[in-house]
Amino acid sequence: MEPSPSDVLAGQAVYNRWVLAGYDIGVLGLSCRLVWRCPKAYQLANYQRNVGERHLELGTGTAYFLDHCAFPTQRPEVTLVDLNPTVLRVGAARIARYRPGAVRADVLQPLPFGTGQLAEAGGYDSVGMNFLLHCVPGTWARKGQVFANAAAALRPGGRLFGSTILGAGVAITPLARRLMRLYNSRGIFHNSQDDLDGLREQIDRHFPHARVTVRGCVAVFEASDAPLPARADQPAR
Ligand SMILES: C[S@@+](CC[C@H](N)C(=O)[O-])C[C@H]1O[C@@H](n2cnc3c(N)ncnc32)[C@H](O)[C@@H]1O
Repeated sequence: MEPSPSDVLAGQAVYNRWVLAGYDIGVLGLSCRLVWRCPKAYQLANYQRNVGERHLELGTGTAYFLDHCAFPTQRPEVTLVDLNPTVLRVGAARIARYRPGAVRADVLQPLPFGTGQLAEAGGYDSVGMNFLLHCVPGTWARKGQVFANAAAALRPGGRLFGSTILGAGVAITPLARRLMRLYNSRGIFHNSQDDLDGLREQIDRHFPHARVTVRGCVAVFEASDAPLPARADQPAR
């Protein structure tokens, strides 16, 4: 079933400038470590492994990870995509040194490649979608459009990477369960049906090579149409 427009809007509406001001400490610092049990260092490491020279970031928040990761060049070309104009303004200001493009769009719809500040389809070396999928409504089949957008954006051999908080199929502490229920009831999260198998299925549908690692109740993923480099801690499929 198609998610309602109001559910889509609810998933991004909370990110006003006050929430964004406390986001890095409250969400990426405290909640990641103490509630979701996946310290932000895991996500930063995912950026370090996969971010490329021409990078597309979907669901950008405060752009913390783009600010802290090392790009493979001093002058990366970065495009930010988010539905929330305040988020785009805050994120673009934070990484102004890269002169990022900013595109207001819903990631659940096909992205308008080749228009405005979005490069042509196939124009990106990497696509990041960190902590995005648990904010967008719909079944995994519907959320699969976000992977379809990423696959369309990437050049051959390009990398998709990101993470999402799962609501099923992983160990969830009582505290995490309570907070998830609250956020789902307010429309901030839409992840009560998001299970690990469903995530893997959607990634596999769009990318022949993928690695999904679970830490706490967070799935950290990286994928490509080309084999991923071996990692001692996690085999790729
Ligand atoms: C939890 S924040 C994640 C921010 C950042 N990626 C991080 O890891 O810190 C989710 C972001 O996704 C954006 N978002 C939510 N629903 C969206 C949609 N349907 N289309 C585009 N962006 C969306 C929100 O505005 C917000 O910036």
